[in-house]
Amino acid sequence: MLAGALCSCQKEEVPSDPSTDTTENENSDYVEKTVLKTEQFDVSDGVPVKLDFMGAEGYLTAVNVSVGGEEKDSLDLREATEAVLGHKEGIYSSDGTYSFMTRDVNLDGKTDFLIEGWKGTEGNTPYFCYLWNENRGSFEYAFHVVSPMFDAVSGRIYSTVFEDGNEYVYMYRLFEGTLVDDGYFSLSDSVEFSVDLSEYEQYMSPADRDGFLMLLNKTNSVDANYVPENMINVVNTRKDGRATQKMVETAEKALEALYLEMYAAGYTDVSVTSAYRSYEYQGTLYNNYVNSEMNKGLSREDAEKEANKYSALPGTSEHQAALCCDMHNLPSASQAFENQEAYKWLCDNAWKFGFILRYPKDKEDVTGYIFEPWHYRFVGRYHAEKIHNFGLCFEEYLELIK
Ligand code: DAL
Ligand code: ZN
Repeated sequence: MLAGALCSCQKEEVPSDPSTDTTENENSDYVEKTVLKTEQFDVSDGVPVKLDFMGAEGYLTAVNVSVGGEEKDSLDLREATEAVLGHKEGIYSSDGTYSFMTRDVNLDGKTDFLIEGWKGTEGNTPYFCYLWNENRGSFEYAFHVVSPMFDAVSGRIYSTVFEDGNEYVYMYRLFEGTLVDDGYFSLSDSVEFSVDLSEYEQYMSPADRDGFLMLLNKTNSVDANYVPENMINVVNTRKDGRATQKMVETAEKALEALYLEMYAAGYTDVSVTSAYRSYEYQGTLYNNYVNSEMNKGLSREDAEKEANKYSALPGTSEHQAALCCDMHNLPSASQAFENQEAYKWLCDNAWKFGFILRYPKDKEDVTGYIFEPWHYRFVGRYHAEKIHNFGLCFEEYLELIK
């Protein structure tokens, strides 16, 4: 569909950088538009052509065309962009690229052009512009823009409350250089449980919705003297003589609810082996791991490298924030927990209680840690549901909502 109506509302001055300039159009579904990129060139008879690549929220929505300083037309690229992202038909060619073409536009006989984009195997989504050569009777390559929307945005999650009162969440993101569109989903306003957990709702879905998003990782740390307030005993601590573990109250209560439901589902052998750890204790654990790696014959440097894959340095462990716990049904935490039915239940259900799998299998590069099927982090249901649905790790999620 050509969106000629968009032409009437163009800005006279176009900033050279992607900017916050926006333009409104009542005829368009998408009122917020930003000039993501401007390309200017002369057609063969010296006529200056300017293309403004317009978009917002990760979509390239239109290319506005001016010829000889005069606003001419606008190509609606939203459909085309969606085609590249997999929503609409496109053409797969034998080399595996997926391409689409916009309509060609006749600009008063001065020039025609078309814009073609594809999702290349190399990951990016470039747009190619071709001009019509009257003499040769063919389209000729003019220039290409490498993923104009990528210059301005790197992905985002946003939500909208629709007329039915439900909140719908939408995400797009860059994944290995490609814009991945994960579509909409509706947030659950209520979650079904097989036992009555109504008294726990205030904890699983806390009023302080964003109050449990503290990020602790290799680049975000807390002081040695940081001790969380409001810690209580973890009811489901493993009963093998270890000290009763502690967690922040809201997280612990939500965990109690998780255990009630998990037990009702038949998984009664899972228990908490570790929750709050002081800075000092985390330091001891870390040093023990380094020593044990050295005992396998590694140099100190290599032993630390190895330990860094699975143990946090003191100050960087989220165990110090008392918002997480290690839980499993094995003698000690091991990746073998992945093969337990209880793990599968946790994968499917932990979000309902506000917990996320903190170190997923395919996110080692982002989290900095190996897959830990036993480590669950409380963030509250509102965020846990999105993280679960979109298959994100915590770092990715925080990046997308900031
Ligand atoms: N095992 C996690 C990364 C920690 O030590 O906190
Ligand atoms: Zn842990």
